Amino acid sequence: MRIRHKPWARPEIAASPICMDDAAALRGKWRAQYARQEQPFYVELGCGKGGWVSQAAVLHPENNYLALDIKSEMLGMANRKVQKAFAGAGKSPDNVRLSILNIERISTVLTPEDAPDRIYINFCNPWPKEGHKKRRLTHPRQLCQYAAILRGELHFKTDDRDLFVESIEYFEESGWEILHKTFDLHADEPADNIRTEHENMFTEMGKNIHFLIAKPPAEAFGKVPELPGRPQENEEDDENAD
Ligand SMILES: C[S@@+](CC[C@H](N)C(=O)[O-])C[C@H]1O[C@@H](n2cnc3c(N)ncnc32)[C@H](O)[C@@H]1O
Repeated sequence: MRIRHKPWARPEIAASPICMDDAAALRGKWRAQYARQEQPFYVELGCGKGGWVSQAAVLHPENNYLALDIKSEMLGMANRKVQKAFAGAGKSPDNVRLSILNIERISTVLTPEDAPDRIYINFCNPWPKEGHKKRRLTHPRQLCQYAAILRGELHFKTDDRDLFVESIEYFEESGWEILHKTFDLHADEPADNIRTEHENMFTEMGKNIHFLIAKPPAEAFGKVPELPGRPQENEEDDENAD
């Protein structure tokens, strides 16, 4: 999906105390970026307009959140949404940080020292064409980066059945344990489920929401894979994402 250019996004990100403009400089130091460093550290990949993280961070001051997206337009909107949610709740956004990042290069920004307690992937681009599948955020080449840094579980939601079924295969062939899975999350929606923008949109369209929780193989922790040289921001071929 092409996003309309938002000239205000980059200046607002640069001026925002919750947006970290040099994510790579914070590698290994993410937990120190929060008022309460000892709290669980949760990372959302591909946060879009910030609907999920703005709700999660206000509802759960006992957790620290980092939300990442490749697009400055998205991060700009997420920044506004988070600020508004905290202002509405009369709270300071001291448990949430946002940053621009191409998740394909996540290990240039997060390390085993950061050790997220949870990773969330909410409605990532399905990349249905065979030649593009390696760009999926659940592709095995991504899973080995997450497994090297993730202390806890990965939570994955999507409306796309093919992506979900193939992702289950990716997790299994990468040695992850699937702790829970459902093809219809809303059939018995957990009280603590936080709906994202895309979750609301697809639900209104009558689509089922698929959800799984997976745990990486313990022996992969700390084994950060080497990355081939790729650009930091990769927005080419975006129209083929979905
Ligand atoms: C379909 S939207 C979902 C947004 C949100 N998570 C939701 O559920 O409403 C996918 C988001 O992932 C971002 N994205 C796609 N590929 C990415 C990548 N390689 N690195 C970081 N973000 C990416 C897009 O910019 C977009 O904001």
